[in-house]
Order: sequence, then C-alpha cells, then structure tokens
Amino acid sequence: MCLASRVAALESPASMELAQRVRELRAAGVQLIDMSTGDPDFRTPPHIVEGAERALRGGRTHYGPARGDPELLEAIAERYAARGMEGLDPARQIVVTPGGKQAIFVTLLATLNPCDEVLLVSPCWLSYADMVRLCGGRPVFVAGDSRRGFRVTEEALERHVGKRARAVIVNSPCNPTGAVWEWEDLDAVRRVALRHGLMVISDETYDEIVFDGRRAVSMGEFADMRDRLFLINSFSKTYAMTGWRIGYVIGPAELMRGVLRAQQNTATCTAAFVQAAALAALRGPQEAVRTMVREYQERRDLVLGKVRNCSRLDCLPVEGTFYVLVNVSAVAADSRAASAYFLETGRVALTPGAAYGPGAERFLRLSFAVDRDSLHQGMARLIAAAEEAENRSGG
Ligand SMILES: Cc1ncc(COP(=O)(O)O)c(C=O)c1O
Repeated sequence: MCLASRVAALESPASMELAQRVRELRAAGVQLIDMSTGDPDFRTPPHIVEGAERALRGGRTHYGPARGDPELLEAIAERYAARGMEGLDPARQIVVTPGGKQAIFVTLLATLNPCDEVLLVSPCWLSYADMVRLCGGRPVFVAGDSRRGFRVTEEALERHVGKRARAVIVNSPCNPTGAVWEWEDLDAVRRVALRHGLMVISDETYDEIVFDGRRAVSMGEFADMRDRLFLINSFSKTYAMTGWRIGYVIGPAELMRGVLRAQQNTATCTAAFVQAAALAALRGPQEAVRTMVREYQERRDLVLGKVRNCSRLDCLPVEGTFYVLVNVSAVAADSRAASAYFLETGRVALTPGAAYGPGAERFLRLSFAVDRDSLHQGMARLIAAAEEAENRSGG
C-alpha cells in the first residue's frame, strides 16, 4: 500500500511543523503566544450570523445549485461593478466555493494539464505550490524584488517563462509580505501574460484589509485581461469568517464551465446557509469591516514601532493584510532556527519564512490577527528573546 505520487511528493510545510510544536507545548502546560495564525481574532459580525440563522430555520439545509445561490452571485457581480468591473455575468462567470483555497484549487484543477508550469512570485502563500503540484502542474518560483517589498519585476517574470508556462499567480495585498501592489506592478504581470498567452490567477483575498487610505487595485481593472483572468476572493479575512468556508472565483465564461464541473464533482456546492451569511455580509452594513481594518492598522503601527526600535530586528513596510515579515537574520542562521529559538526561548510562535518559498529565509512572518493583550505580550517576548540572543552572542 502506498500513497499516490502526487501526494507523496508534497513536503510537510514548515508552518504545520510549527503548529504541531505549538500544540505539544500547550498540551504540556506551556503558556504560549501564538502569532503565527491567519485567523482574525474578531467574531463574525452579528448581522452575518443572523443571516445564517434565518436560513437554517427556513430550511436551507439541502443541496443548492453548484454554481451558488443566484442572489449571492448577483451581489458578487455588483461588488465588482462598484469597483469599475461592469458587465460580469453572474450566471456564467462566477462560482461560489467552500473557501478561497478551494476556489484556487478548482481553478487549477480545471485549467492545468500535466507538467504545465505556474509562475509564483516568491515569497508567496504556502498553499499555491502544493496545489499546483496536486493538479499535476509544476510551480516555478520567481523571486520578488526584496528592495521593493518583494514585488515582481517584468524582467524577472520574463526570465522564467518557459515553453510549458501556462499561468501566473499574483496576490495583492500579499500574504506574507504585507505589500499592496501598485497599478504598475500588476501592469508588469499583465504585459508578460499577454505577450506569452498566460492565464493570470489573481488572489485578492485581502483586498479590503489595506491601510493609510490605500485602495487595493484589482487585476480585474485591466479590461484586456478579461479572457485570461481568474479573480479569487474570500469572506474569510474581510468578515472574520474563516470557519464558515466560503469564497469564490470569477473568470472567463468558457473556462468557468470547467471550474463548475470540478466543483460539481467534488464539493457539489457551498452550504446554502453559509451562502445566506455571505449575502448578509455583502448586502449589510460595512461598518464592522472598517472597524476591524482600523484596529489592524493600529496594531500594525504598534508592531512596526517595536520591531524598528529593536537593534536585532527589522521589518518590511506593511501596507495591507495582517502580516509583517520580520527580519531575524541577526538572531539565527535561518528562519526555521529563528522560529524554533523564539518558540523555545521566548514562548512566542512566528512562522518561518522558509514556509513561503525561496526568498524569505531571513524572515519570520508575524501575524497581528491576535487580541491586543496577546499582541503586547507577544511583542515583549519577541523583543526580549531577540535581545537575549544578542547578549548570548556577546553582541
Ligand atoms: C493569500 C491567501 N489566499 C487564500 C486564502 C484562503 O482563505 P480561505 O480558504 O479561508 O478563503 C488564504 C488564507 O490564509 C490566504 O492567505
């Protein structure tokens, strides 16, 4: 008995190893501050929960259309129309999925042929590469420019486009870098995609979590990309709905037929009452989102201030998301060692940069999606452990 090679080839992600160690330490009674999570500490806003409650009481506990509830599809199309992307056909171009992760997976499943290459701008969210592999493709990492928040340049992308190149995945606002890509950055990707006939998968999961009055530009704003573009989005982060499992993909009608087939034969559909909650999220008041984003921005200021005051740590600017890449090269030789050091010495968990592909080996990803008390304690532990490392090395 053995595993299929497509699964056996997957490595155990550094983040999972960290999660396992956190569980072990907690089980042993160790008080840890976990700053490795991608899960907002906020509760889902009450009007969203009520939307699901009404649907449950109303009997929406059965199979629904595989594509999604027509009213929700309409509301998603309206959301994009309000952002200048008019003319989306909700009945042909959108599929609601159980999570943004599933949206990416069914998109890759529907579009990749064996050995197709998918360009990933590194460092990037840890699931992309393995999802590409699971779908028979080959991830090709393209190093982002470390001097510019790891945004990719046209030249770097161009150098990595081989004969088998089929798609490129972009993610702005970016997990783990916290960068929000400008129009020109996306335009560079657009030019390469048009030149080489590549599909673009634009993961815009964090598009509402942006700071300092910024707006996240969507790849969908480039009108000439519509026939090759898949937009991925999710309710998880914007509305603190990670556990509900709901996201969606928008793409060209012809190709979305394949995405729908993949969904029909895997998840069947997204739970109807969860879709009712998502509809309440889109159609209801957005004040809760603004409150969460304001709070994230204040936490961002707090974290960046503390990190920059510590002689042993440094970090990249954070324009969106709730992550900071903290440069720990003065503390340990590589990110796994640094993560282990902070966990064992400081009792604070941060994800090794190695989890995000090549380029982030000098960094740990710190998540400030934790309550203020934990954030204060976690930062104090992080700084103290960094300074202790300095004393130990005699620095
Ligand atoms: C960049 C990015 N894309 C997609 C997702 C998927 O989120 P979900 O499956 O909860 O919608 C995540 C979750 O962490 C993410 O960080």
